[in-house]
Amino acid sequence: MSATHVTQSSVYNLINTFLNQELDLGNYSSLFLTAVPPKPGKKTVRVKKEVKISKKENVVKETKPVYKPKYVPDLDKFIIPPGNKKAQLDALKKLIGSCDMCPELANYRKNIVFGAGNPDADVLFIGEAPGRDEDVQGVPFVGRSGRLLTDIIEKGMNIKREDVYIANILKCRPPNNRDPLSQEEVNCTPFLNKQLEIIKPKVIITLGRYAAQYILNTTVAIGKLRGDFHDYKGIPVMPTYHPAYLIRNYNKDNRLKVWNDVKKVVELLEKIG
Ligand code: URA
Repeated sequence: MSATHVTQSSVYNLINTFLNQELDLGNYSSLFLTAVPPKPGKKTVRVKKEVKISKKENVVKETKPVYKPKYVPDLDKFIIPPGNKKAQLDALKKLIGSCDMCPELANYRKNIVFGAGNPDADVLFIGEAPGRDEDVQGVPFVGRSGRLLTDIIEKGMNIKREDVYIANILKCRPPNNRDPLSQEEVNCTPFLNKQLEIIKPKVIITLGRYAAQYILNTTVAIGKLRGDFHDYKGIPVMPTYHPAYLIRNYNKDNRLKVWNDVKKVVELLEKIG
């Protein structure tokens, strides 16, 4: 702003208004104004605007309440107990209890979907996260995707659904089935790792992008990963499309791809016995 000749009082009024506004807004704790005093005998003053401002400390206050989880399961202290795999999985489930590490999920869920199936399964499927039906029933893959998965297992692989084990990357339903957040994945996957350590399946089949990328620690697209065996701690992994993707893109080409993926698993199981 260029210096202008104005009356002293109008400048003071103007600046005072501005200063008061700033103080009202809480932007500053104190504001000082100095001006060149009028020369004797002159009607106007040349105002030198020297506003010294001292920033108020801690003006920006945290308005969001800090969420304090009530129960964070301590997996570091969890030692897989002796006994059969069912007892071991039960102990892990008990540890998860009513985990609320992910506040949004803990508030939104009806049930934690731990996983289901045969603890001695040769084949372990990993999906993304529970949907609405799974959240209500506390069981993975029981909705529309689940019915297609059951067909893939029973008709495609000729295995009974209750003979495989099914788990997910997240154990709680994300609001409106949104994608899992990376922090949620970080919080939840240690439990999946323990499930894998207990069950020790002969083969893992990952369903969709999230499960494949987590298990294989990669960002490669599911379209490139599927169809070939990969490795998770010595266990062969076959990534394939998620049943929900198949429902959305239900064509012969995709169905054939999934069919071929699971056929390779069946062949491998026959080979390794
Ligand atoms: N989709 C998933 O990825 N998991 C479920 O359990 C259900 C739907």
